[in-house]
Amino acid sequence: MLDPSRILQRCDALARHSELPAGLTRVFLSPQARAASELVLGWMSEAGMQARLDAIGNARGRYEGTRPGLPCLVLGSHLDTVRDAGKYDGMLGVITAIECVDLLNSEKKRLPFAIEVVGFGDEEGVRFGTTMLGSRALAGTLDPGVLDTKDAQGTSIRRALEDFGLDPAAVTSVALRKDELLAYAELHIEQGPVLEAAGLPVGVVTAINGFSRLRVTLRGEAGHAGTVPMKLRRDALAAAAECVLAVERLARARPEVVGTVGRIEARPGAINVIPGEVQFSVDLRAPLDSTRESVVGAARTEIALICQDRNVAFEIETLQELGSSACAPWLMAQLARAVESEGVRVLRLPSGAGHDGMAMKALADIAMLFVRCKRGISHNPAEAISAEDAATGARILYKFVHDFRPELSA
Ligand code: GLV
Ligand code: MN
Ligand code: MN
Repeated sequence: MLDPSRILQRCDALARHSELPAGLTRVFLSPQARAASELVLGWMSEAGMQARLDAIGNARGRYEGTRPGLPCLVLGSHLDTVRDAGKYDGMLGVITAIECVDLLNSEKKRLPFAIEVVGFGDEEGVRFGTTMLGSRALAGTLDPGVLDTKDAQGTSIRRALEDFGLDPAAVTSVALRKDELLAYAELHIEQGPVLEAAGLPVGVVTAINGFSRLRVTLRGEAGHAGTVPMKLRRDALAAAAECVLAVERLARARPEVVGTVGRIEARPGAINVIPGEVQFSVDLRAPLDSTRESVVGAARTEIALICQDRNVAFEIETLQELGSSACAPWLMAQLARAVESEGVRVLRLPSGAGHDGMAMKALADIAMLFVRCKRGISHNPAEAISAEDAATGARILYKFVHDFRPELSA
C-alpha cells in the first residue's frame, strides 16, 4: 500500500529546511538545500534505491530492474523553491516518486527497466537567474560557461558548487546518454485553477508553455531630490515604471500571453536621491514560440522608445529562453490509462508554468501529471493540496510506472 499520510508529512519535513525562520525559501546550493537533499537521499535509500548527490547537486536514486544496468524511466521534480514559497511545488513530485519505488520495493517487484528518481537542485532559477541547472546538466545541455554566472552576492555557480563540496569540472559527467533512459515523467501540482473548476483531482499535461527571461538595466543620473527641476531629471526608476506598464500592456493585448516584472532594484535607493540606475526582470510566456518571440521583440522596442524619450541609457540581456515543449502522445496515452484506472475522467491541459521536462526533452520524451491545488494558488505560502488528491496522484503515478511499456515509443 502507498502511504498517503507520509506524503504530506514529508512535504512538511522538507519545508522545515528554509533560510527564513517563518515561511519557505530554499535556493540552489544553499545549506538548506544540502539538508533537504540529505533527507531525500535517506528516503531514497529506505525505499531500496542506490542514492547519491550528483556533481550539479541533484539528489539521485536508482532502483534497478529485473537485472542491473537496464535503461531507466526517470521520475523527477525539483527541491529548490521560490522566495516565500509553498510546500508542494516540486517537492510533491519527488516524494510521490519515492513512494512509488517504496511500494515496488516492499512488494519485491522488479520491472523490465530501471527507475531513476531525481530531486533536481535548481528549477526555479532564483539564485542565479537562470533556471533548470539540474535538469540541463542531466540532459547534457548545460554549457559549462554558465558556471560563471553570479548570484546577487557575486558568488559564481562554480564557486557555489565548490563551497557545497562538489567538483565543477565534473558537471558535464552528470549527463545521461539517450540510450540510458526511456522517458521522463513528472508529477507536479497544477499551480492554476483548471482542475479545481473541473472538479477533478488530476489532469494530463499536453505541453509546457515556453518562456523568455530578460534582465533590463536603465542608467539615468542620480541627483538631489530637492534641487533638480522635474524637466531636467533623468530618473531611471520613473523610466522603469513606464517599462513595467508597457510589459503589462503588451501581454494583456493577447489572451494567451503572460508577462511579469517580478524583481526591481533602484540605486542608490534613498528617499532624497533621484534614482540613477535601475535593474528589473521581465518574464514573458506563451504557448506558441512565434507569439512569444514577437511579444519579446515588441517589449524591446517599447523599452528603447521610453528610454529615448527620457534620455536614459538601457541594456537588455536575455537570461534564458526555452521553447514550448510538447508532451509525447504515447506517454500521454499511458498516463491517461492510469488516470482512468482510478475512475477519474481524463482532462488534458497545458502548463503555464515551467518544469524540468523542458530541459529533459532534449534527451527523452516527456509526460506530466498535474494534481489539483486549492484555488490555483502557487508561488505563495498559501499553496495547498488535499491529502486525498496527493494520494490519488501517487496511485496514478504508481500505476503508470507499473504498467509502463517503453516499446510503444515511436
Ligand atoms: C517555475 O515555477 C516557473 O514556471 O517559473
Ligand atoms: Mn515553481
Ligand atoms: Mn515547480
